[in-house]
Amino acid sequence: MGSLTPDTLRLRYTRTGGGEPVVLIHAFPMDHTLWDAQVRYLEERSYLLIAPDLPGFGQSTESQGWRLAEVAAALLEIAETEGMDRFGAVGLSMGTYAALELYRQAPDRVASLVLANGRARADNDAEREARTRLIARIRTEGLAVLDEVMLPRLVRPGTNLKLGERIRQTMHRNTPEAIAHAVEALRERADSTPLLAHIKCPVLVIAGSDDPITTAADCRELADAIPGAEFVEIPDAGHLSNLDNPAAFNEAVGTFLDSVE
Ligand code: MLT
Repeated sequence: MGSLTPDTLRLRYTRTGGGEPVVLIHAFPMDHTLWDAQVRYLEERSYLLIAPDLPGFGQSTESQGWRLAEVAAALLEIAETEGMDRFGAVGLSMGTYAALELYRQAPDRVASLVLANGRARADNDAEREARTRLIARIRTEGLAVLDEVMLPRLVRPGTNLKLGERIRQTMHRNTPEAIAHAVEALRERADSTPLLAHIKCPVLVIAGSDDPITTAADCRELADAIPGAEFVEIPDAGHLSNLDNPAAFNEAVGTFLDSVE
C-alpha cells in the first residue's frame, strides 16, 4: 500500500495493474476492499487501479472534522504522486460525493466519471437531523448501531449470508469515532446540483434495481441532469450494487471505460 501525507489528510491506497489510470472511491462505511472484484476485473482489461481508504476507514488514519472537499484535494495529490495527469474516477455513494468534488476542483484532470448509487444534492433538514442522531447513537452504543441501521439497507433483501457477513466485518474494522466523523462529513457535504449541467467529460450513472437509499429513480434523475450521461440499472442489486451483482457492474463499468477516448 502506498501512502501520502497531504497538508490536510493522510490517505492510504492500493495501486494495482497498469494502463489508463482509474481511481475507485468507496462507499460509507466500507473501505477500499469494496472494490476487490472490480480491481481484479479491470486489471485484466489493462487499467491502473488506485483504491484509497477514506479518512478513518481501512488503513487510513482517523481525522476529526474532515470534509469531502479535502478528500478530493488529497486524491489529486495522490494522482500527482503517481504521475497521473488525467484519470477516470469511479465512486459509489459517498464515493460519488467525492468524485463530484474532484470534478469541481479539477475538471481538466478527470477523464471520465462513474457515479454509482449516488446523488448530487446536499442533505435536507430531516436527513441532517437523522445524521446528527446517528452520530450520537454511534458514540453511546458503538458499532452495533450500524448492524441495525445500515446493514439491512446496503444490500437487497435476500442477499446471501456470506456477503452480509463480509460487509458487517468490514464495517466493524472501523472505530466508532471514525464512523462518527464520516457521518459528519456526509452531513456537511456541498450541494453538487449546480455543477451537473457543466460536466463535460463522459459520465456513466449506475443504479441498483432494489436500492432503498438512492433509488433507481434518483439515479435516473442524476443522469438526466448531466449532458450526455449514460445510465445503467444493475438488476438484482441493492445500494452496494457492485457487491450484489459484480458481473453486471463490471460489465457496465468496463464497457464504459473502454469507450472513453
Ligand atoms: C454510502 O453508501 O456511502 C452512504 O449511504 C451515503 C449516504 O448516506 O449519503
